[in-house]
Amino acid sequence: MRAAVGATREAGKTIGLVPTMGALHEGHKSLVVRARAENDFVVVSVFLNPTQFNNKEDLRTYPRTADADAEMLRQCGVDIAFMPTVEDIYPEPDTRVFDLGPVSRVMEGAMRPGHFNGVCQIVSKLFDMTQPTRAYFGEKDFQQIAVIRAMVEQMGFDLEIVQCPCVREDDGLAKSSRNVRLTPEVRRVAPAIYRTLVASVEFARYHTVQQTHDWVVATINAYPEMETEYFSIVDGRTLQPIEDWEQTDYVVGCITVYCGDVREIDNITYKQ
Ligand code: PAF
Repeated sequence: MRAAVGATREAGKTIGLVPTMGALHEGHKSLVVRARAENDFVVVSVFLNPTQFNNKEDLRTYPRTADADAEMLRQCGVDIAFMPTVEDIYPEPDTRVFDLGPVSRVMEGAMRPGHFNGVCQIVSKLFDMTQPTRAYFGEKDFQQIAVIRAMVEQMGFDLEIVQCPCVREDDGLAKSSRNVRLTPEVRRVAPAIYRTLVASVEFARYHTVQQTHDWVVATINAYPEMETEYFSIVDGRTLQPIEDWEQTDYVVGCITVYCGDVREIDNITYKQ
């Protein structure tokens, strides 16, 4: 990997990196297509990173589709499909501890202790190994992008983070590798998450932040198959909760919902 990207860099060419955990779908494909259009050389990493899973059962049941992933990447014309083993990436345990400040402590940071630390461990290693000019991440993981931006700033990586729109199923459910684990009954109701978020943008015009929050949670929890873990209406830059719509010019609602035993996350922009 180092030899390939070293030669590419020396030739003055740009490198686009798309980090993934495999089980690739149309959402990943949109990142790869964009990276292909914007760079001379494209690396896609496929690595199910154990250090970011705070829940062992989630890691055990995470879909693994290496052959199909390799075929999709071949068809997309990527230059390198980087599919390392755990030993390649972590020949020694990674004991680094990141402190990315308030953006990393709320929401997923609070609910999944150690998750963002693991994300920073793997993403910093991938940046180091692949020396990208640009790295591509999906907006579905809105907080992850903020945390990675903070890490890039803190560690002084010389690269651009490219934030790409969430890709959805026809019924609005955000594409996710975990969707294959939804039972048919839960899959039928899961689109209500995004439908409710979209409807809440209109609701928010005539209601307070707290009322909007409560309405979204109540609407989703009215489905017996779903249970909201948290819904936070936050400043889109600091990710800290807001109390008043006028508090900032960038407002995003971030939600996590248990759909059966599958944890789905999504978000909506109220103001930008
Ligand atoms: O978003 C993901 O799929 C993962 O968190 C990432 C960025 C590939 C790191 O393992």
